[in-house]
Amino acid sequence: MTDATPGTLPTKAIGFAEYGGLDVLGPIEIELPAPGAGQVRVAVRAVGVNPLDHKVRSGSITEFFPVDFPAVTGYEVSGVVEAVGEGVTAWQVGDEVFGSVHGGGYAEHVLAAADKLARKPAALGWEEAAAIPVAAETAWRSLDLLGLEAGQTLLVHGAAGGVGTVVLQFARQRGIRVVGTASEANHAYLRELGAVPVVYGDGLAERVRAAAPEGVDRVLDVAGLGDVLPLSIELAGGAENVLTIADIPGSAEHGVRFTGGTEPADYQGPALAGALALHEEGGLNLPLHRVYPLAEAVEAQRESERGHVRGKIVLTVG
Ligand SMILES: NC(=O)c1ccc[n+]([C@@H]2O[C@H](COP(=O)([O-])OP(=O)(O)OC[C@H]3O[C@@H](n4cnc5c(N)ncnc54)[C@H](OP(=O)(O)O)[C@@H]3O)[C@@H](O)[C@H]2O)c1
Repeated sequence: MTDATPGTLPTKAIGFAEYGGLDVLGPIEIELPAPGAGQVRVAVRAVGVNPLDHKVRSGSITEFFPVDFPAVTGYEVSGVVEAVGEGVTAWQVGDEVFGSVHGGGYAEHVLAAADKLARKPAALGWEEAAAIPVAAETAWRSLDLLGLEAGQTLLVHGAAGGVGTVVLQFARQRGIRVVGTASEANHAYLRELGAVPVVYGDGLAERVRAAAPEGVDRVLDVAGLGDVLPLSIELAGGAENVLTIADIPGSAEHGVRFTGGTEPADYQGPALAGALALHEEGGLNLPLHRVYPLAEAVEAQRESERGHVRGKIVLTVG
């Protein structure tokens, strides 16, 4: 370690000591160990809020995502490196960074794997930076796994949320045409991102056929709602052309691949580089649906649970 902090560091956080509703979420203090080999400790400035946070808190995904109590969610942060573990050469105390973490982000300090961070450009705000890692990594991974090529057409279910917003932009960069589902209120937004919008719900397959008369090559189910996998298989000509990131039971039932980020390939590095390249060109559009202080994490998760986020929700820390 290159700073003077010995051993553990008492850290204020918002967490929970049991699974449950929003009422289990509240202020706690945790003892953060010193960064181990390959890790850094980050003084958190902002943390992205994801649906994963409320799913983990509720206990609905314990089979795939168990946690130890007290638990602190928050899987993407921006902040300042304040301690460096053994073997870390890429970062120094004082560096401004953003990236993904294995939970613990709803806190003043968090441990991060050094290789999951990227340098935060001065022109990228703390909140904007914290919104990027999960959406970008998931979008990049999904497009790579779908094996799309320029000129092909992709249908995205749930295109207006955090992940969908970045999928649309990476797809456009790759020359892929996108038809995206969203409520009417988000159709102008999807058009702005270069996609053809369609409303989800009854009659969806007909609306997609009208929007893409030449057919759909691949389908990405980001929303995981409304039992869309059967119609997706039909539209794309086979289950092998469909990928879901949100419907685990449906994937098993319909023989569709689910991706949860456990693949061995590193998607985070190219995804953050891709997002930064877009930002530098002035082309990254990831709006902040709402920004809350960390103390209002309950309100942030309530809003996330409603399921109609455009872009990202972010918490500010400190
Ligand atoms: N497996 C993974 O690696 C991975 C990674 C990241 C996220 N996820 C999962 O992916 C899902 C989406 O994440 P996110 O961060 O993009 O969520 P989000 O930001 O909360 O966005 C949710 C979006 O869903 C749309 N929506 C609501 N009902 C819909 C329906 N019936 N059909 C289609 N769209 C609908 C909403 O648009 P309207 O307001 O227009 O309705 C909203 O924009 C979550 O379940 C999350 O847990 C999985």
